[in-house]
Amino acid sequence: MQKRSWAEPYKIKMVELLKMTSPEDRRKAILAAGLNTFLLRSEDVYIDLLTDSGVGAMSDRQWSGIMMGDEAYAGSRNFYHMRDTIEAYYSYKYTVPTHQGRGAEHILSKMLIKAGDYIPGNMYFTTTRLHQELAGATFVDVIVDAAHDPDNTMPFKGNVDFDKLNALVDDVGAEKIPYICIATCVNMAGGQPISLRNLKELRVWCDKHDIRFVHDMTRVAENAYFIQKQEIGYADKSIQEIVYEICQLSDIATQSSKKDAMVNIGGFLAMNDAVLYEEACALVVVYEGLHTYGGMAGRDMEALAIGIVESVQDDHIHARVGQVEYLGQRLMDHNVPIVQPVGGHAVFLNARKILPHLRQEHFPAQALSAALYQESGIRSMERGVVSAGRDKDTGENYMPRLELVRLTIPRRVYTQAHMDVTAESVVDVMHKADQVKGLRFTYEPELLRFFQARFEEINPA
Ligand code: F0G
Repeated sequence: MQKRSWAEPYKIKMVELLKMTSPEDRRKAILAAGLNTFLLRSEDVYIDLLTDSGVGAMSDRQWSGIMMGDEAYAGSRNFYHMRDTIEAYYSYKYTVPTHQGRGAEHILSKMLIKAGDYIPGNMYFTTTRLHQELAGATFVDVIVDAAHDPDNTMPFKGNVDFDKLNALVDDVGAEKIPYICIATCVNMAGGQPISLRNLKELRVWCDKHDIRFVHDMTRVAENAYFIQKQEIGYADKSIQEIVYEICQLSDIATQSSKKDAMVNIGGFLAMNDAVLYEEACALVVVYEGLHTYGGMAGRDMEALAIGIVESVQDDHIHARVGQVEYLGQRLMDHNVPIVQPVGGHAVFLNARKILPHLRQEHFPAQALSAALYQESGIRSMERGVVSAGRDKDTGENYMPRLELVRLTIPRRVYTQAHMDVTAESVVDVMHKADQVKGLRFTYEPELLRFFQARFEEINPA
């Protein structure tokens, strides 16, 4: 018998209507947005694949948690529920809530970094690196080379290269490295996972050099999916068990809970060290809020506690990453160049290959993202030279090897039919790629420029 079709492991209780727009409407909207999809109004978007952050569909259980919000200024019941859930599912003893991931990054960087320090990481994330730099550190990329090659199909492209890490220690000395920051399912590499074997080796390496191990666990459940599927010895372990095992290897964690944990807003800094926790509590009151709510409302902490449990269910994560894989496969069937293997949260289009006539200084990924919106009202995000920003010392653009457009899939929001429409739209844009023009800045903000930058089209020679 033929293999049965697959269906989402949930049914839909409430819907949000989408607006259809004309090509003329969309041309007007994208020009008004300075050809930057971040500056579009959401009501002008048909399928919104800008991000998977804060845009997931909460479950009926999470929504009922919202009604159970205890909005006391101090000691909210929901804080204790969240803290206990984090300890039970993620292993970390002490939790400081923050308004979202970057709030946790801010406090962590302030606590541990001294001017002149170095922070190694498995590729950078925009806000993470900026907080490290603002605290006086230099970020050093120690991810395996394969992560920078969109055509390399090696599994676990999020792994750390120990030669790079050892070279850094030889160069600057372990005392200049307060911590290593490791992301599970590396966003900027294309949602690529790190293996448990690599994580275990890293734990030993950190102990040997007396360097703290910080875990950016924003997408830890998706990482666990790849471990279950691909790493020897884990096929029979549940996602919940694998997530716990990953977390146990690190000392400190930051989480943007708007992704895997499926809340619209929230995050936390968690750790096992009581002294460090006291310090974090002292800082969180300055920048976020009292240590039992940080930047969150009680109701949001409740929804997060419930979301964490839902996020580590095998059915859920198989459907979630399965949908991303489905879109990737549809695109590969049409020979669209994408980052391989397909990652956990998004499919990344290789803009260098789709727009070979554009040089990187004319922002091919930005131009492709604007063109896709004009084609079909699908909103994506640039993840290339614009996102990479400028070197703080030389002022030169960072020129990343990866020049990508991210089609990010929100959790539990779109159906397989939306994925079909998306794939067809990308293929249509690819077929008229030679009409896509390069861009130049008309406005370039100094920090995290991709959010607010504006562009105009040029006709490169
Ligand atoms: N770390 C990772 C790996 C992230 O992907 C993000 C956010 C953050 C930290 C920061 O968290 O937004 O809650 O402050 N990524 C979003 C994205 C914005 O679209 O990829 P935040």
